[in-house]
Amino acid sequence: MDMYKKRELRAKKKQENENVQKDSKVLINWYPGHMLKAKNDIKDSLKLIDIVVEILDSRIPKSSSNNSLNEFSKNKKKIVVLNKVDLSDEKQTLKWKKYFESKDITVVMTDANNKNNIKQLLDTIRKVGASLEKYKNKSIEIKPIYRVLIVGIPNVGKSTIINKLSNKQSANVGNRPGVTTKKQWIRLGTDIELLDTPGLLWPKLDEDNAGVKLALTGNIKQEILDVENLANEGIKVIMQDERSLTLLKEKYNLTEEDIALESYEILEKIGRKRGCISKGNEVDYEKVSKLFLDELKNGKIGRISLDYVE
Ligand code: G4P
Repeated sequence: MDMYKKRELRAKKKQENENVQKDSKVLINWYPGHMLKAKNDIKDSLKLIDIVVEILDSRIPKSSSNNSLNEFSKNKKKIVVLNKVDLSDEKQTLKWKKYFESKDITVVMTDANNKNNIKQLLDTIRKVGASLEKYKNKSIEIKPIYRVLIVGIPNVGKSTIINKLSNKQSANVGNRPGVTTKKQWIRLGTDIELLDTPGLLWPKLDEDNAGVKLALTGNIKQEILDVENLANEGIKVIMQDERSLTLLKEKYNLTEEDIALESYEILEKIGRKRGCISKGNEVDYEKVSKLFLDELKNGKIGRISLDYVE
């Protein structure tokens, strides 16, 4: 590629990348009315419960959280679950655990498909439950019941965790804002009652590339964004972390010179290595972008985190 063409391509990509961030905000189906309804639904449920369990995606604990929850669940005990640890970088996830613990928040790390992790979550709910004011210093012994609500943004694993906790095949969830379901409790052992409809939080897209990171991890449907731009953004995010870049290099057999290139040039190299070629020996960018995004989302490049503790 000659210099002029390269420069032109670079300017085009830059403009497109600015657009992708705008797009991720506009295209996601969260209108103010939805947010208000979701917030009111959670507020309604909070009246009935003692403990809020917020599920986060451990690859992006910052981008998958919603600070509004803290405003309206102030007087509730809280547990943060860093889920999908089978997909996130272990070191980063442990750093996030420490970060939350430094703010006096109880943390459990889970792979929702790991029975021991689910048991750890149950044990933690019991431990936090036992510390509830209403069960402290009682002269007459009363049988404790801990009432729990699971909350989180779409796709973080709320229904999976509810299913695993309750041994059900599928959760009975009206998991959309505006879907009203009668509140039902799931009994876990003799002492825990879990609301079977999780609280749905809306993703915050305005901070620190959150929309892009939510799309890269599959918490926002990738199809609604331009896949080529998203893949290019994905490479850029990976390039910021040395360990992730090494994983990328190993996965796609890239050389030192390859990974020193611009993000879109790296995508081109990956396209060539993986045979994503169209007519005239040109790289099929759409095909390589989809391939890369799919492999990144499903942990096939390796366990990669996209939010780092500052
Ligand atoms: P939600 O209720 O919060 O919306 O999320 P849900 O449980 O439906 O989970 C979303 C996807 O994430 C599901 O995949 C589920 O299997 C997967 N998932 C949940 N917890 C974990 C985990 O700890 N590790 C991994 N690797 N995956 C987890 P899916 O049905 O295949 O959906 P999709 O991936 O095709 O969107």
